[in-house]
Amino acid sequence: MILKDFFIALSQNQFLNSAAKKYGLKMGAQSVVAGTNIEEAIHSIKELNAHGISCTVDNLGEFVFKKEEATAAKEQILKVVEAIHENKVDAHISLKPTQLGLDIDYDFCKGNVREIVDRANQYNMFVNIDMEDYKHLQPSFDLLDDLSAEYDNVGTVIQAYFHQALEYLQKYQNFRIRLVKGAYKEPADIAYQDKKDIDENYIKLIEWHLLNGKFTSIATHDHRVINHVKAFVKKHNIPNDKFEFQMLYGFRRDLQLKLASEGYNFCTYVPFGSDWYGYFMRRLAERPQNLNLVMKQVFNK
Ligand code: FDA
Repeated sequence: MILKDFFIALSQNQFLNSAAKKYGLKMGAQSVVAGTNIEEAIHSIKELNAHGISCTVDNLGEFVFKKEEATAAKEQILKVVEAIHENKVDAHISLKPTQLGLDIDYDFCKGNVREIVDRANQYNMFVNIDMEDYKHLQPSFDLLDDLSAEYDNVGTVIQAYFHQALEYLQKYQNFRIRLVKGAYKEPADIAYQDKKDIDENYIKLIEWHLLNGKFTSIATHDHRVINHVKAFVKKHNIPNDKFEFQMLYGFRRDLQLKLASEGYNFCTYVPFGSDWYGYFMRRLAERPQNLNLVMKQVFNK
């Protein structure tokens, strides 16, 4: 737990975050980040598509407090939408509201996200609003409410560590929803702290949404959860086109390929860009064994 808190604190350090941007992918981040530019990301997507794996693309970025930076992020994501379309790859967009100005002004952020959703909609492309920490939860749901009044190519994430996660899920059951355990540090009055409680709630949400929801993205590297889902869908005759498994780029590649080859819909989350630091530190917080990646890079040099 101490190590987890340590890496989450590092992920939120704005000085280190901006310093890391200048130095390209370091410390093993290159194993889990698909390059620093769109061309490299498209190359990785093509490779995954060749194995029957679709992708959701995240132009990395957080801690945006200046309008110019949020506008630049929007322009970059619009280029990603165009690149996905032009290259005819099987991919859609994942975005973080704070990168698009949620900490600056809600309407400004909504305008940015709307532009992306609108452009993606022209190409029949889905846009996922990733969920960040609790402070941003309600405004992110507000974005979904506002944009879904106009567009149907938008969905979001529900984090199982929240006590109220099932209520959120019930409210958004008619959306394409990604279910995750939750990656941020949240206080005990709103979120489960114990891994066992989070895992139990996660299974509860997955089962509920598979039975009642529109489309479920089960985003986990946990083979126990994946095996449970396989047995559950079989028992309840839930067809493969009602759900998919998702994992992050660079993690459990063998299992990713295996699930895709077994005929399950599989989607890899493909992050790219120079703003990799916070993303990478959260991965270390989730699984300190990921430090192996860092060690290998350091000692291979
Ligand atoms: P967890 O870390 O709980 O591990 C469970 C077990 O699985 C481990 O004990 C081990 O046995 C096995 N395992 C896990 N990783 C392994 C590995 N690399 N190799 C071998 N075995 C491994 N969070 C959030 O708050 N907002 C979001 O929008 C998203 N989006 C998102 C998208 C996608 C595609 C994924 C996969 C995850 C997210 N997350 C997220 C992150 C999520 O909330 C969570 O923090 C991580 O996925 C870690 O939890 P897991 O369920 O993967 O396994």
